[in-house]
Amino acid sequence: MEHKNFKNIDKVTYGRGSFSQLGQTIEPIRQTHNRYFVYIVDQYFKGKDLANRLQNKPEDLVYFIDVDPYEPTTEQVDSLRDEIISKKGVPSGVIGIGGGSIMDIAKALSLMLTNEGSSTLYQGLNLVKKPGIYHLGVPTISGTGAEVSMTAVLTGPEKKLGLKCDWTVFNQVILDPELIASVPRDWWFYTGMDTYIHCIESENGIRNNAFSLAYGEQSLKLCREVYLGDKAGQTSENDDKLMVASLMGGLSLTYSEVGVCHALSYGLSKIHGTRHCYANCVIFQHLGDIYPQGHREFMRMIDKHGISLPQHLSKDWDDATLTAMATVSINLPFMWHHAFGDDWQKKVNLDYIKGLFKRL
Ligand SMILES: [Fe+2]
Repeated sequence: MEHKNFKNIDKVTYGRGSFSQLGQTIEPIRQTHNRYFVYIVDQYFKGKDLANRLQNKPEDLVYFIDVDPYEPTTEQVDSLRDEIISKKGVPSGVIGIGGGSIMDIAKALSLMLTNEGSSTLYQGLNLVKKPGIYHLGVPTISGTGAEVSMTAVLTGPEKKLGLKCDWTVFNQVILDPELIASVPRDWWFYTGMDTYIHCIESENGIRNNAFSLAYGEQSLKLCREVYLGDKAGQTSENDDKLMVASLMGGLSLTYSEVGVCHALSYGLSKIHGTRHCYANCVIFQHLGDIYPQGHREFMRMIDKHGISLPQHLSKDWDDATLTAMATVSINLPFMWHHAFGDDWQKKVNLDYIKGLFKRL
C-alpha cells in the first residue's frame, strides 16, 4: 500500500475573536500581488453582523452565495469564475466564509481561476494542472472537516467528486469559535456527527494507523464531551471544542480513509440532493452491524438531543433509483477497500450496496 504524502494547511489562527484578524492576515498577500480579493460568504450572513465585519476594501468583490438546499456544483463554480475574470481579472486571493459547501466553493474557485476549461475536467485525483491562487477559509459551521481537507467536493452532471490535489488545501484558515454560535441546533448536530463518523470510519479500516488514530481519538474525545458529556450541548465552551474536533477529525481521515457510511452518503446525495452531513446521519443509524460500537454511541447521542431522523425512505425508490445510487457508491472503491480489506470485492457489489440502501 502506498503511503500518503499529505499537504497540510499552511497557517492556522485559532481562538475566540480571531476573525477580527482577517484584514491584517491578508494584507501581505494584497501587497505582494497588488490586486483585489474575492469574498465568498454564505447567504445566511447577508444583513447580519458578520457581513459588517468582513474587513474588505472597496475594490474587493463580495459574493453572498446561497448553498441551500444544494451542494456546490461544477456549473456554479465555472460561472462564478467566468464572471470574476470578466469583471476584474485574476484576484490576489479568495476568502471563503461559511460552512462546508462555501469552503468547497472557495477551494475550487482558487484552482479554477488559474486552470482553463470546466471544473468537470478536474474532478478526481491530481488532475489539476496549475497551482490555484491564495485561498483562506473561515468556517462558520464545524464538522465536515472541509477546512482541512485536500479536496473540494463538487457535484457535476456525471459525478459528485472532489478536485483533489495539494493545491486544493487552504493557505490559511481562521478558526473562530464565536462564528459557529449561530448554527441552528439540528445542523449543529448533523455536522458534528459528520466529524464523529469521520473518526469512527477512519479507525475501522485497514488504512488506520497511529498517526490518524492520534487525531481521531482526540477528536472523538472532544465529540463525546460536546454531545454526551455532563456539559453536553450548544455552549460556547463546546463550540471551542467542536471546532478543534472538526479539524482533527478531518486530519484523521486524511491520513486514513472514510468508509461505508460516506460511500453510501455520496450515492444518496448525488441522486437525491441530500446534504452531506444529514445524509450521513440518515445512513449511519442503519449501520449497527458494520460499526457496532460507533453506532451504539451515535444512537445515544441521537437520543440525548431528541433528534429524529427519517425512516422508510427506500419505499419510494424503485430498482432503477437504487441502482443509480449504488453505482455512485461503488465508484468509491478506496472507501470499500479501507472498510472491508483487500478482498472487499468478494462482499461488495451493486446488489450488496442496494441492500444497504434498502435499510433506509
Ligand atoms: Fe464527511
